[in-house]
Formats: sequence, C-alpha cells, structure tokens
Amino acid sequence: MMRLLLVGNSPGFAERLTEAVSGAFLGIRPVPFPTTPHQLFAHLNGAPTPDLALLEPGPELEAGLTLAAALVRDHAVNVILVSDQGHALGLRALRAGVRDVLDVDSNPQEIRDAIDRAAEFIQTTPVPPIGFQPGQTAQARGRVITVASPKGGVGKTTVATNLAVGIAKRFPQSTVLVDLDIHFGDVSSGLNLNPEYSLPDVTQGPASRDSMALKTLLTLHETGLYVIPGSESPAAADNVTPSSITHLLDTLAAQFAYVVVDTAPGLSEHTLAVLDTTDTLVLVTSLDVPGVRGLRKELDTLTELGMLMGSRKVVLNFFEASRGLTVADVEATIRTKVDVVLPQSSVVPISVNQGIPLLQSDAREPVTKALHTLVDHVAPRPQSAATKGSLFSFGRRAKDAAR
Ligand SMILES: Nc1ncnc2c1ncn2[C@@H]1O[C@H](COP(=O)(O)OP(=O)(O)OP(=O)(O)O)[C@@H](O)[C@H]1O
Ligand SMILES: [Mg+2]
Repeated sequence: MMRLLLVGNSPGFAERLTEAVSGAFLGIRPVPFPTTPHQLFAHLNGAPTPDLALLEPGPELEAGLTLAAALVRDHAVNVILVSDQGHALGLRALRAGVRDVLDVDSNPQEIRDAIDRAAEFIQTTPVPPIGFQPGQTAQARGRVITVASPKGGVGKTTVATNLAVGIAKRFPQSTVLVDLDIHFGDVSSGLNLNPEYSLPDVTQGPASRDSMALKTLLTLHETGLYVIPGSESPAAADNVTPSSITHLLDTLAAQFAYVVVDTAPGLSEHTLAVLDTTDTLVLVTSLDVPGVRGLRKELDTLTELGMLMGSRKVVLNFFEASRGLTVADVEATIRTKVDVVLPQSSVVPISVNQGIPLLQSDAREPVTKALHTLVDHVAPRPQSAATKGSLFSFGRRAKDAAR
C-alpha cells in the first residue's frame, strides 16, 4: 500500500495525475510553498506521512528542493520533483535525494510510469537508504552489477555501457556506471563524455570520506545515468587501491539502486575487490575456443575462492553461425547456461565510435534486442503499481488539488 501526496499549484498537473492514478492521492496547494516538513505536515490535517510526495513548487524551486531534501533525509519520504526546469536540475535533484524529476507538462502515462518506478523501489529493495551518513551501516543496499571476463576485447565495455544506459532509462537518477578498468578504462569515450573528474578523484580526498562530496564529482550522461569514468592517466590510477574500490562501491550502493561496474580483463586484485562487493556478475566471452576455455577457468577459480555466491549471467558475444561453435558447445565447455547471445554486428563498433550506446539510440537490430534481454535479466521493468492495486488514497480525491 502506498500513500501518495501531491503538493502543487498547477491544476493541469493535478488533473493529469488524477487520470494517471484514478484519483488515488491526496492533493494540497499550500501558499507559500512549504520549506520544512513541519510546515507541510500542518496542511495534512493529521493524515499519515506519505510514502511518495510529488512536489510541484512552480517558481519556488529552491523551496521545493529544500523541502525534498528534508523529507527524504528526516522522514524517509520518497520524492518526485515536478518542474519545468527538470532538465537543468540533474545533480541538484540527486543531491536532495529526489527519486525522479518529472516535467510539469508530463502526460498521464509519463506520470504513471514515474510513480510505478518509485512504487517498485518503495515496495521492494533495493532502495537507496534515507539519510545516509558516512560510516553508517546501510540498511538497504542497491545492487552492484559487475561485467567481467578473463580475456580482453570480448565486449565487456560494450556490455557494461549498454547495460547501464538500459537500466538508467528504466530507473532514471538511480543508476551509476563505474569504470574500474583502472588503467585503460574507456567508458567515457563509449559514452562520448568529457568528464571533469575521474576515478582517482573519487577514491581519494574528501569524496572518499563524504557521500555528498562524492556526488558532486559524478558526471551526468544525457540518459540520466551517473558515471565515474576511468583515470585519464595510468599513473594516477596507481593510487587507486583495492580497499578504496570496496569503499567506493559500498558508498555508491548505499546511494543508488543500481551500480554497474566495468572491469579490466582477468582477476587482478582490483577486480577481486569488485567481485567481493558484487551482487550480479555478468561474465562475457567471445565465440572462440581460447575465450570459452578461459571463462571455464575463471568460473573454476571463482568457485574455489567462494566468490560465485550471488547471481550470475553469461553473455556469449560475437556470435556467428559460421564460426564453427554452437551455443551448446559453449555451454558444455563452461558447464553453465548461456543467458544472452549477442550476435556479431557492424552496428556495435559504429555505436562505440560514435559514443552512442545502442540502447540509447534504440536501434532496431538483433544485437539491441539481445542487450534489452540482458537488462531484463538484471533489472526487470517495474510492474504497474496501480495494476497491482498498491496505490492507497488518503481518503480525499484529487479534485481537492485541482480546485
Ligand atoms: N557483438 C559485437 N559485434 C561486433 N563488434 C563488437 C561486438 N561486441 C564488441 N565489439 C567490438 O569489439 C571491440 C572490443 O569491445 P569492448 O571494448 O567492449 O571489449 P572489452 O572486453 O571491454 O575490451 P578490453 O578488455 O580491452 O577492455 C570494440 O571495438 C567493439 O566495438
Ligand atoms: Mg573494456
């Protein structure tokens, strides 16, 4: 059951929200816009604290952000910010702990989708914990999804960037991609980013001690994905230690629902540190005998080390019938099911060279479809909360807000 509150002044938005959730919300129009939860709760006439608040502060955007931060931090209320300046808010909304940003002109379907996404987070973990403080034990934790392989050049970065973009499109503001191919990472070129900060900046100095400082060093991709790119110089990356990686991933998992990690080939001590914190391991292999045998050895090694505890997905890349190996051959060698087969396709290097992942452009290619399947495996689409009957009305109808 979810209690939904709209705090806003736009009758148009309230009407579209009414259509989106069949009126199952409480709407209030306080003037001026409240800046503290105390002021807000005074307008609720004793109604219980909402689970999800849609704040539509109009021109009083600063008040909206201040209220959002306090609701999230002090009252565990999930917040969607409704603003015509949503596109410019990015990091500021993230810092306030806002779960999603909706344009004030959003149609009922868009509003419903955003509420469904938030409802999914509220009803099931992973939910980034509220009011996280450095050093505090996380009560709820996002999922760390790591893409790895024993061999180089098999498509890890291609898979990681597409996976992250695919998840971010489903769960905006809730996904971060970390390039932990620490010496030669190329995530930023695959996403066409020119980042100001990179991995060494976030594993040292204030950002390594303070989650708020860390957030200011993230790079925002146009899909709503947050990115920590690899080091510009291999020398600077030498200062990134395995323990600083563990700490970084723990901090990010406390702030984001999904943390996607790209790694260097093989099982370096850095990658082992990542695997120690990983919930879902995505193993990639190319369709050739050395690659497949290498994957078998990696699986054996990880089993011996007791590091294959979480869920695991196997991606077979560069698939072509003419290569003389079948999926069944690969499964027999690795003694594990192949979950997703990515065909060899010329659109992949083109997208990498353009810096536009296939799941960003939504090209209709078999390889894009296969990448979507992988996203389905690791971050299933939220079911409609309204369909599940989970929306709960405070008892008053939206016309209160629309009046
Ligand atoms: N399915 C595919 N079809 C065609 N080309 C592909 C496919 N997957 C990946 N590639 C290409 O293969 C090259 C290597 O891919 P990618 O950089 O993702 O591999 P990697 O495992 O991250 O490599 P490294 O180990 O060096 O980090 C890239 O040029 C990419 O465009
Ligand atoms: Mg790579």
